[in-house]
Amino acid sequence: MDQQITIDAVRAEFARVFKLSDSLRVVRAPGRVNLIGEHTDYNDGFVLPMAIEPQVWAVCRAREDGIVRIASTLFPGQFAQWSLNDKIVPGNPKWANYCRGVTAGLLATGIPLSGFDALLINTLPMGGGLSSSAAIEVATACCFLAVGGLDIDMQRLAAICQWAEHQYAGMPCGIMDQTAVISSKAGHAMLLDCRDLSKDFFPIDAHDVRVVIINSEVKHELTGSKYADRRRECAEGVAKFKTRYGDGIRALRDVNLDQVDESKSMLGDVVYHRCRHVVSENRRTQEAADLLGKKQYDPVGRLMLQSHESLRRDYQVSCEELDCLVEETMKVKGVYGARMTGGGFGGCIVALVQPRAIEAVIDTVGPIYKDRFNRVPTAFVTSAAAGASIME
Ligand code: GLA
Repeated sequence: MDQQITIDAVRAEFARVFKLSDSLRVVRAPGRVNLIGEHTDYNDGFVLPMAIEPQVWAVCRAREDGIVRIASTLFPGQFAQWSLNDKIVPGNPKWANYCRGVTAGLLATGIPLSGFDALLINTLPMGGGLSSSAAIEVATACCFLAVGGLDIDMQRLAAICQWAEHQYAGMPCGIMDQTAVISSKAGHAMLLDCRDLSKDFFPIDAHDVRVVIINSEVKHELTGSKYADRRRECAEGVAKFKTRYGDGIRALRDVNLDQVDESKSMLGDVVYHRCRHVVSENRRTQEAADLLGKKQYDPVGRLMLQSHESLRRDYQVSCEELDCLVEETMKVKGVYGARMTGGGFGGCIVALVQPRAIEAVIDTVGPIYKDRFNRVPTAFVTSAAAGASIME
């Protein structure tokens, strides 16, 4: 052997013989909480989410053989594996379907992909309505980008992750979660126009206001029919508005509250209430963003509460546990507003509070909720985090 060989060359030789790439890559994808604008994204409407501190980390290393192998610290001992050269189909373990879907979606774009081994490390609870699935999708996509040295338009990546969720997890979600996970800015909430995907950022100054999340620990099952039912009811509304107001109505985004009210008998009771929620929520969301920008937290809080009421009565996606958390949180002095967040039927509430109210919220709401439902809710404060990134 050559006496002049360098350490780098020795390492490279080791990596070649043992088929290791020379470095581990580290990526992260945060969860998200939506401050207001619920069930509006699939109606071409407005949402106001921010990324949160709990997140999914992925440590990965390229493979030369076109195999993708993923493990998760949440499911010790389980490995999910597939080949970039075979048709990728949903399978077991189920949590890996998000990753399989992203692989298939990226392959379909024709971008040359490299396989990898990855370990997912979650500080984000799964199934809590904080976009753990979108975070897993985006973390997987970031692994592909990191090991392949690839670049892709971020909004296109969000669409691929959304497609993965539709096709591989059976959840017909809108575009909010994946966009928030990818495009959020630290210290800001993001007003996303789900029609043209334009984004405006509004500062959330931690000196003035804090975001508290309380998890009801009720697990929702959105892949079940309820989310899809709501989407169908909205589509029914749009079809009826079209017959009345013409083809200019492409989505509930294009309808105003007067039109909803004057169409009540045409829509029928259920569809009327669904449309009323979406149309009023779009307005609340734009107003809330504007007020947040002006640091007028009291009226933002009132809009959050109205949003909760609308989701509870008109859209019917809340539940007793979420209602109780909102009601008890609102009793604490220094709370501006609270509402259920995410798809509903369980999951979390989000509250906007004065910094001095944090302890009181966490100390008082938990015990009351536990007494009533015999479940311990988990509460935490979060600042607005940055969107997904490749760390190393
Ligand atoms: C889920 C979906 C989102 C959105 C919300 C409701 O989180 O993934 O696309 O529709 O529900 O606002």
